[in-house]
Amino acid sequence: MRIGFLGAGRIGSFHAAALTATDGVDELLIGDADAARAAGLAERVGGRARAAASVDAVFAAGVDAVVIAAATAAHADLIVRAADAGLPAYCEKPIALDLPGTLRALRAVEAAGTLLQMGFQRRFDAGYLAAREAVRAGRLGRLHTIRAVTSDAAPPPAEFLPLSGGLIRDCLVHDFDAVRWLTGCEVVETYARGSANGAEFFRAAGDVDTAAALLTLDDGTLVTATATRYNGAGYDVRTELAGERGQLVIGLDARTPFASAEPGGPAAPAHPWGGFLERFEAAYRAELAAFVRAAAGEAPNPCSGREALHALLVAEACERSRRTGRPVAPAEIAAEASL
Ligand SMILES: NC(=O)c1ccc[n+]([C@@H]2O[C@H](COP(=O)([O-])OP(=O)(O)OC[C@H]3O[C@@H](n4cnc5c(N)ncnc54)[C@H](O)[C@@H]3O)[C@@H](O)[C@H]2O)c1
Repeated sequence: MRIGFLGAGRIGSFHAAALTATDGVDELLIGDADAARAAGLAERVGGRARAAASVDAVFAAGVDAVVIAAATAAHADLIVRAADAGLPAYCEKPIALDLPGTLRALRAVEAAGTLLQMGFQRRFDAGYLAAREAVRAGRLGRLHTIRAVTSDAAPPPAEFLPLSGGLIRDCLVHDFDAVRWLTGCEVVETYARGSANGAEFFRAAGDVDTAAALLTLDDGTLVTATATRYNGAGYDVRTELAGERGQLVIGLDARTPFASAEPGGPAAPAHPWGGFLERFEAAYRAELAAFVRAAAGEAPNPCSGREALHALLVAEACERSRRTGRPVAPAEIAAEASL
């Protein structure tokens, strides 16, 4: 399979290298809005990767599928271009910065009848998979509380922020997708707050560097989800699931970046997780391999655009809640968009 690869930035660099090592990939044609970045990445990856002069050149090259790892603001247009060309596409989350952009992309995909797999890699992480199995098999009993944590060790580059959609859409959206996927429940209400006491560039972008959301699921389970860009102890993605009969923690291992305050309790790890690329390396590889199989028609789509839309509706509700200070139901956002 010849894959057109769009976006040669932070995550693109990892995905391109992973794809060239994936069964079924014969060639990777890399394009970026900045041609020099595409050329640099193709050179670093080597092997089956080569650079295209432009994004247009990638689409003109007759590729079999497209992988989109470009900046979020470019996703919707690139998804539409892939759909119009009849090509299966993988796209990093989220589909777009806003709901109209998301719906425009989804409608193009559905009109074309093409595959769109979204990049919620936690669905391929061993811990998340084991926890889903335990929850679905009833081993924890009736769930009453879920506590989700997504903490970056340090802020991304300032120029990334205006293109990211903000902390809630960029980071907590992973937790919103994971909670739906783990439990099979829908979020019926959100309440969110945020703070921006770190670098000035968060306030300049109208963003927050720390956020907390309280979600109510349709079976009454309560979920807290917090995110921050300032967790100097390390990268911490953890979800605690508490039920009547048992508790399970995703992301609790020898590199989880915290220390016990108790005398004799576990100390902080010598090598805490540093960032998403090392924490989720195996999951990223697995989701890209799943895309290659899905694009070849050998496996079903593990994460459709509609799934990403549901996660975005929760994020939009939280974003409105943190701005207005009132609880907001995802259904309110959906109704306004006539969904
Ligand atoms: N799933 C995850 O865990 C995860 C982690 C990090 C980033 N992401 C997502 O990946 C995407 C990229 O993030 P990043 O951190 O690599 O950003 P980045 O800023 O490092 O790279 C973005 C790249 O996209 C290119 N670009 C911009 N517009 C383009 C266009 N129209 N066509 C082609 N290329 C274009 C830029 O030149 C740049 O090279 C974002 O949507 C982000 O949300 C997902």
